[in-house]
Amino acid sequence: GSWYHADIDRVIISEEQIREKTAELAKQVSADHADAEGGLLLVCVLKGAVMFMADFARALGRHGPSAEMEFMAVSSYGSGTTSSGVVRILKDLDRDIAGRHVIVVEDIVDSGLTLSWLMKYLQSRSPASVEVVALFRKPDAVKVPVPVRYVGFDIPNEFVVGYGLDFAERYRELPYVGILRPEVYARS
Ligand code: PRP
Ligand code: MN
Ligand code: MG
Repeated sequence: GSWYHADIDRVIISEEQIREKTAELAKQVSADHADAEGGLLLVCVLKGAVMFMADFARALGRHGPSAEMEFMAVSSYGSGTTSSGVVRILKDLDRDIAGRHVIVVEDIVDSGLTLSWLMKYLQSRSPASVEVVALFRKPDAVKVPVPVRYVGFDIPNEFVVGYGLDFAERYRELPYVGILRPEVYARS
């Protein structure tokens, strides 16, 4: 077979946990931004945040405020397992964010290099505010501290895949997050 079960050592965050946490995060963001002038502008960081963006935006839609969706694609990893620190813009914002309340929607903060670069980039465009919601964070991997207002789960510094997180573009579609067996990345 060519499917993935054999590549996953163990599941660390289940579908159910992701669903509950996403609802919680959306409630918090909603409560904190009920009066945000012009509503929120969600900036999804492709590709990893695609699953979280879809679920988080939907959860926010139950509470408000209004939210528009923008997408950026940046890449720092290539197909390796460690961050290079070099961030490339693969797809830029489509619209001006000046004066807007921006929430960056990320799947994971690992070294922090991607987000620290992105925050500077977004702040240079004069938004009313910029905050981050990240579903996962690896506290033991941080190289650059980045203020992340909303964090779903702190997870161990292991190679995780699923729910948007990839290894060499694979495993993103898994509905849970699991630890990749070392044999899998050793052989590539
Ligand atoms: C991954 C992940 C985060 C970033 C976190 O993206 O989705 O965006 O790395 O790592 P960092 O904190 O060490 O910068 P990646 O660059 O692999 O691109 P992708 O989202 O397309 O997978
Ligand atoms: Mn990413
Ligand atoms: Mg990646």
